[in-house]
Amino acid sequence: MRKRTQIPLLLLTLLTPAGFAQTASTYTPPTVAEIRAAATPTSDQTWWKHAVIYEIYPRSFQDSNGDGVGDLNGITQRLEYLHALGVDAIWIAPMYPSPQIDFGYDISNYTAIDSQYGTLADFDRLLAAAKAHNIRIVLDMVLNHTSDKHPWFVESAASRTNPRADWFVWSDGKPAPANAVNAHQGPHGLVVPPNNWIALFGGSAWEWVPTRGQFYYHNFYKQQPDLNWRNPAVEQAMFSSMRFWLDRGVAGFRLDAITDLLEDAALRDEPVYAPGTNAQGDPNVSDTYTNMLPEVHEVMRRLSTMVSKYPGDRVLIGETYLPDTAAIRPWYGTPAQPELQLPMDMMVGFHSEGGASGSNVALNLTHFRQTLTEMQTELDSHWPLLVFDNHDNTRSWDRFGDGGAHNPQIARIIATILYTSRSTALTYYGAEIGMSTHTPTRREDVRDPIGLTGWPREKGRDGERTPMQWTPAPPAAGFSTNAHTWLPIGNDFPTVNVATETAGPNSLLNWTRTLIDLRRGNPAVHDGGIVMLDTTNASVLSYARTVPAGSKFHPIVVALNFTAETQTVHLDLTPAGITSTTAKALLADAADLTSITTLSTFTLPPYASLVAEVQ
Ligand code: GLC
Repeated sequence: MRKRTQIPLLLLTLLTPAGFAQTASTYTPPTVAEIRAAATPTSDQTWWKHAVIYEIYPRSFQDSNGDGVGDLNGITQRLEYLHALGVDAIWIAPMYPSPQIDFGYDISNYTAIDSQYGTLADFDRLLAAAKAHNIRIVLDMVLNHTSDKHPWFVESAASRTNPRADWFVWSDGKPAPANAVNAHQGPHGLVVPPNNWIALFGGSAWEWVPTRGQFYYHNFYKQQPDLNWRNPAVEQAMFSSMRFWLDRGVAGFRLDAITDLLEDAALRDEPVYAPGTNAQGDPNVSDTYTNMLPEVHEVMRRLSTMVSKYPGDRVLIGETYLPDTAAIRPWYGTPAQPELQLPMDMMVGFHSEGGASGSNVALNLTHFRQTLTEMQTELDSHWPLLVFDNHDNTRSWDRFGDGGAHNPQIARIIATILYTSRSTALTYYGAEIGMSTHTPTRREDVRDPIGLTGWPREKGRDGERTPMQWTPAPPAAGFSTNAHTWLPIGNDFPTVNVATETAGPNSLLNWTRTLIDLRRGNPAVHDGGIVMLDTTNASVLSYARTVPAGSKFHPIVVALNFTAETQTVHLDLTPAGITSTTAKALLADAADLTSITTLSTFTLPPYASLVAEVQ
């Protein structure tokens, strides 16, 4: 059993539940019925099932006013690019007023725009312009906590009797043992926090407020107090904030830290699951009592009911780091009581287990094949959401790359899986051009507070948040006219940028554009079932996207070499109900592959990707 401390992705260890590493796998091999269900083409054209959703970190996408920080008008300027790429929806990380302690995930007003990103009028213009480009807007909604500067918290913290006294999670603490350090003078004597809960971002999860003579709970920074979701008034207020945006026309929400919404009412101590300390120097306590409580699902059902009243298939996307694929299933709810449309499947792209050696999942074929299969068979036919990159984790370029030599080929493999799988595809700005992680090398350059408190074990998330690289032009690669951008531009911008890659026929950007075109225009990739092929091959991942029997359209086969050696492959397509092996390449990243005529024997160069159409 792996322990959180052994997972090399430090941030992932912070953002994933302790159970992630401790729960024994509930994997059961798929049944024939489950495999058949996945192999059946869909006729469901609900927009989000076929969508490419593109995450934008607003500080880092496009600066329109030269202050070195991205903004909403910047996003509007770049809609044409997103449209040409084939993006169906953008998810914008929080752009609400915020003290920016956690760069927007500490919200001080849920129904306005932070002045550094623009105005509500700018937002409405963006929404209208996006609609004109057939691009929907999904907002990030942080339901778990507010900023400590939010008027609700300011009022709540002022006394024990104000109207919002019970809007956050308050506790008297417990009597301080003799010689306790950090004891506080409560109304009835010295007290310490009520339990051993640790904040994900370091230190005790409890903060003392002298005016109340009480502690409040915060799962993240102390400037992010947790709302008390046991209080119906909190739910009403948050739902009404969401309605504000739904009424304006947003297509849905990405729900931040949603599994953490409620805590154990009895505030029981967490078990310690490992000796020693985590990256933040805190004891390794579990999260049994602060994560995935059954009551969260009750809130999700009511939320789903509220959102479903709006026309146009609004979507609820969940930030769901979970122990295994089967644990994702409950987040969809049931037909009678639906919850989220798209809880994220982090198992393929972010799960760190898999290597027999205990190494990072990296490009572990066994892990990919198993989790990609589970994604189709373990979710009771619910629609999966596949994702490899976000603003909290090292970019996939580095996570799966081999350190340089084959990174471009490996990035094509990841893109091919993302866009040719039977799932919704969620990507992150810059992944399409192969942006890499630019982790600060000096503590004084760090902007993300967890990088400051955790240095040098945890260097924070700045590396995956550097500005989008648009052009090879100094000083700021087309992101800004200001040389002083909020994070430095990645030093690879002269070659890794949209303009240069647009002109390069073999660029990752053009590879990605072609994949997205296929996804939109090819019936097998758009609607087809999926069947894993050659499932005992330890070097090559291959699968078919099928078409209905008798269809005039052709099935597609994807073959990806996960090794640095040339591999000869003999594919039997009959498991996918395909009798022909005659094929032509639609997309191949090696010259020899483009002239392929059969799938019964072909050779894949190191880390090569092939998408072929069966004739
Ligand atoms: C989510 C966000 C992350 C943020 C945290 C607290 O995990 O993705 O960026 O720091 O929630 O809101």
